Amino acid sequence: MTKIIVLIESDFILNDFETSKVSNGSVTWKTPSNIALVKYWGKQDPQIPENASISFTLDACFTLTTLEYSKKKTRHAELDSASHENNFNFDIYFEGEKKEDFKPKIQQFFERIEQYVPFLKDFDFVIKSRNSFPHSSGIASSASGMSALALCIMSIEKELNSTITEEYFNKKASFLARLGSGSACRSVEGELIVWGNHADIKESSNLFGVKFPYKIHENFKNHHDTILLVDEGEKQVSSTVGHQLMYNHPFAKQRFQQANDNISKISEVLKNGDLKQFIAIVESEALSLHAMMMTSNPYFILMKPNTLKIINKVWEFRAKTNSNICFTLDAGANVHVLFPEAEKESVNNFIINELIQYCQENHYICDRIGNGAKRLSNN
Ligand code: DP6
Repeated sequence: MTKIIVLIESDFILNDFETSKVSNGSVTWKTPSNIALVKYWGKQDPQIPENASISFTLDACFTLTTLEYSKKKTRHAELDSASHENNFNFDIYFEGEKKEDFKPKIQQFFERIEQYVPFLKDFDFVIKSRNSFPHSSGIASSASGMSALALCIMSIEKELNSTITEEYFNKKASFLARLGSGSACRSVEGELIVWGNHADIKESSNLFGVKFPYKIHENFKNHHDTILLVDEGEKQVSSTVGHQLMYNHPFAKQRFQQANDNISKISEVLKNGDLKQFIAIVESEALSLHAMMMTSNPYFILMKPNTLKIINKVWEFRAKTNSNICFTLDAGANVHVLFPEAEKESVNNFIINELIQYCQENHYICDRIGNGAKRLSNN
């Protein structure tokens, strides 16, 4: 029998470390985005989800982040609190440009994770990041961006403490990423990740994402996700604000229950390969997420007319051809079109002939289920 070790918050505090072991260097991670099948919408402090969620890790949509680090001259512990050396010191470049406006989010992230990685103030950092997808595409980059940074920080921890296992490394990277952005904790490994305590998912946790612990049916091998970019503008409502609107939401309790029930159902489906049930759960989840937005106070609609046109076309095509195509949405107008590898030719033709016309400037991204983040060599 395998022993289950349950990790708690205190297990993620790095205690014995000697920063003199590391002076300077740089590390690069390539980290994918993910698309939730059962959605996370609603949380408690500190970034604890109200319900469990599950996502496909993607492949083509990723963030590439290099973290350069150099030791400060004096250890922060020896300095008075007002000194420059006693602050987080970092610069951030996005796609080659220095970005002052990205700093508050990173500052907040560092503040949240410092107790777990207490070496942060011992270094000066330069963060250099870029996305494989256009910044203005409406694809959230917080999941891939925050997990990439968390993984870079974990690579420094590994230099300070080489005894940590790969399993601990990944769990703590996911744990730290969660404190930057909830969905980011699902962007460390592949192919299917569950985040949030759930009785049906062994070793699941509110603190970090875990790999779906059962054998995934062949029907989902190489599953495709073509992202139709309906609206490439800035999001009207940030996820952070959206989550807050679940606090006094009249349907909150029922929604959290529905999502947890859907985790049980989809867990069976992922094992038994029932594509029709998969479609029913995934589309209902997407529409339930948007229904929460439409019924919150204040209320809002993130779907655009072309989002609905695409959804109706997908339904028509499915009725006509018995295809196993389906859609999902995140907190925006773009549509993720999901389909099995076995149908890639017919569905690709359908997308090109009938759906692309609804995308902004015909823009779309062909993606598929992926294996998770990779460390790249810096040479
Ligand atoms: C609709 O992870 O972006 O994409 O934790 O506040 O950073 P924060 O929110 P975020 O929320 C993602 C919401 C979602 C659904 C999902 O990915 O599960």
